[in-house]
Amino acid sequence: MLKLPGLIDVHVHMREPGAAHKEDWDTGTQAALAGGATTVLAMPNTNPPVTDKAGLKLAQTAASEKARCDWGLYLGAGADNAGSTVDLAKEVVGLKMYLNQTYGPLRLDDMRHWMTHFETWPADLPIVAHAEGHTVAAMVLLAELFNRPVHIAHLAKADELAIIRKAKERGIPVTCEVAPHHLFLNTDFLEKLGPGPGEVRPRLASPADNAFLWENLEFIDCFATDHAPHTVAEKRGENPPPGFPGLETALPLLLTAVREEKLTVDDISLRYHTNPEKLFNLPSQPETWIEVDENAEWTIRGAEQFTKAQWTPFEGWRVTGKVERVVLRGETVFREGKILAAPGSGVPVKSGESALR
Ligand code: DOR
Ligand code: ZN
Repeated sequence: MLKLPGLIDVHVHMREPGAAHKEDWDTGTQAALAGGATTVLAMPNTNPPVTDKAGLKLAQTAASEKARCDWGLYLGAGADNAGSTVDLAKEVVGLKMYLNQTYGPLRLDDMRHWMTHFETWPADLPIVAHAEGHTVAAMVLLAELFNRPVHIAHLAKADELAIIRKAKERGIPVTCEVAPHHLFLNTDFLEKLGPGPGEVRPRLASPADNAFLWENLEFIDCFATDHAPHTVAEKRGENPPPGFPGLETALPLLLTAVREEKLTVDDISLRYHTNPEKLFNLPSQPETWIEVDENAEWTIRGAEQFTKAQWTPFEGWRVTGKVERVVLRGETVFREGKILAAPGSGVPVKSGESALR
């Protein structure tokens, strides 16, 4: 049995308020525990979005009542809320800026808005950017100009990681995360997935991009799922929304890659626990660990997941490594496929001072 620290997933979508049919804080945090995550940081592109006090309150209420693992919330950067984000900063784990098209209304196109948020958001708290291609370069420039840390979400392409790598070598305070689907899937898989289910932002990249990410793992700070649940009907219907569920498949896929000698268990702990805790300056969870049967071979089945999504882009994949037990603050909260934590037992977490400053 392999023992790992409780995983910290810095990028999940819990869909409450507004779209509980896709996921709610109960099912989403069950999926988290089943996948070995004891903390999830949830994105603000809900309905209403978490961009003001009222939106924040709705998300906080849902999470406090239902979450079965520890949780934190991002505040969304909008076109008109830069004046009020500082008042809410103490209640969240960071500010999320959407610079490219994705699911939900939170897209900031105007560079002046980027600047105002960089000026007003407390310098010691994280800014996380959904940036792709050119906007990754733009965020690196802003990190340098404002001399403050910026974390790039779900990086997918070789050119993006090349820019991050260069920036890190120059001492610019940028960090990044990669989602398992951008490590294990690429455009070759699109035909089998089908047009709707294959939709995700950033889009699946090329096999060469995959290879570059693997070769430059040392410049990737975090693994984060970007767990983005949508129902099977939505993914197969008209206007399929982008996004893959990921909480229950991330660790088994990574452990299978360990078996294939593509990475080590320490690489996983560093990027799925230690760095997330450090970058977001989260309190450590005492007496918290997960136990994994590293030799258990099993087949991924969407319909067997706790997430309401009930599908997965990894359907039918054989993986090695299964979460057997999760202990959170001394309590066994997951064992042999069963969730034992009660709804509402998760504790809210907030970011302290960023460790990068
Ligand atoms: O594919 C995605 N889905 N990418 C995102 O950035 C958002 C997410 C969602 O919320 O569904
Ligand atoms: Zn996301």
